[in-house]
Amino acid sequence: MIKKAVIPAAGMGTRFLPATKAQPKEMLPIIDTPVIQYVIQECVDSGIEDILIISGKGKRSIEDHFDRNFELEAMIIKKEDEEIYTQLRHIENMANIHYIRQKELNGLGDAIYHARYHCGNEPFAVLLGDTIIDSVIPVTQQLIDTFEQYKQTIIAVETVPPEKVFRYGIVGGETISNKLLQIGEMVEKPEINKAPSNLAIAGRYILTPEIFPALEKTQKGKGNEIQLTDALRLLLKKENMIAQTIEGKRHDIGNKLDFLKTTIEFALKRKEFSEPLMHFLKEITGPSKPGSSIG
Ligand code: UTP
Repeated sequence: MIKKAVIPAAGMGTRFLPATKAQPKEMLPIIDTPVIQYVIQECVDSGIEDILIISGKGKRSIEDHFDRNFELEAMIIKKEDEEIYTQLRHIENMANIHYIRQKELNGLGDAIYHARYHCGNEPFAVLLGDTIIDSVIPVTQQLIDTFEQYKQTIIAVETVPPEKVFRYGIVGGETISNKLLQIGEMVEKPEINKAPSNLAIAGRYILTPEIFPALEKTQKGKGNEIQLTDALRLLLKKENMIAQTIEGKRHDIGNKLDFLKTTIEFALKRKEFSEPLMHFLKEITGPSKPGSSIG
């Protein structure tokens, strides 16, 4: 049983500056909902309600978002907006959320290492706080189902175009089934000719507590940061691990273009926006607009 999840959310978000100078990228809204709320919803929908957020400098608004705001509630009650009131109460009660601060930004591996006392001797899920995965079955649930069967570290992966492998952690290995791969090797951001495949690590994991001693031994790697992939590679010498191709679409919100695309895609799925937005998109990209370079 996986009962705990860890959400690293302490990073600087330098790819999204200047928006992230004074606000967390995890709080950027996709329409009206912060990215991290989608991530927490995925945990809850996967049956996990004990969540540790790795927080840090400038991230207090994440705590405020999941806290109760009596003044705001009173105002909404006065306005008799029942729908918003229900939403506010839902956010406050979504899960048992704990926080720990990563005081120095030493990378994703170091962020996860901060969860060692919280997770103790149990396997746990990891969900990157800046990545939404849109799917029918929550991706964390997909990974948990595989973990229950194999009792090994499970790493979510997705196929990326070969020219993009240099941006990701890439895994290679032997096929178990059309979705599962017994991992043989793992490389962080490889050059195209050194990549063992084009299966990229997709921001969701089920890790075993053995990751903590591996992280302890892991030296700083790419970007002078402690990389989770390096620790996993160390652990791979001792333990079997599985890569699972996710059924869903990954949205990396830390990247400006992905953020824009996600906003449009999600808005087109919302009843109140789909028609007027589609109309607007056609209007600004249509053939009648000379000089238009989109569409
Ligand atoms: P990223 O590498 O995408 O985050 O980490 P970043 O460092 O904030 O990004 P850029 O490159 O500067 O734009 C993925 C997740 O891990 C967290 C981030 O907050 C993000 O949700 N993270 C990263 C930490 O919690 N601590 C770290 O030291 C690094």
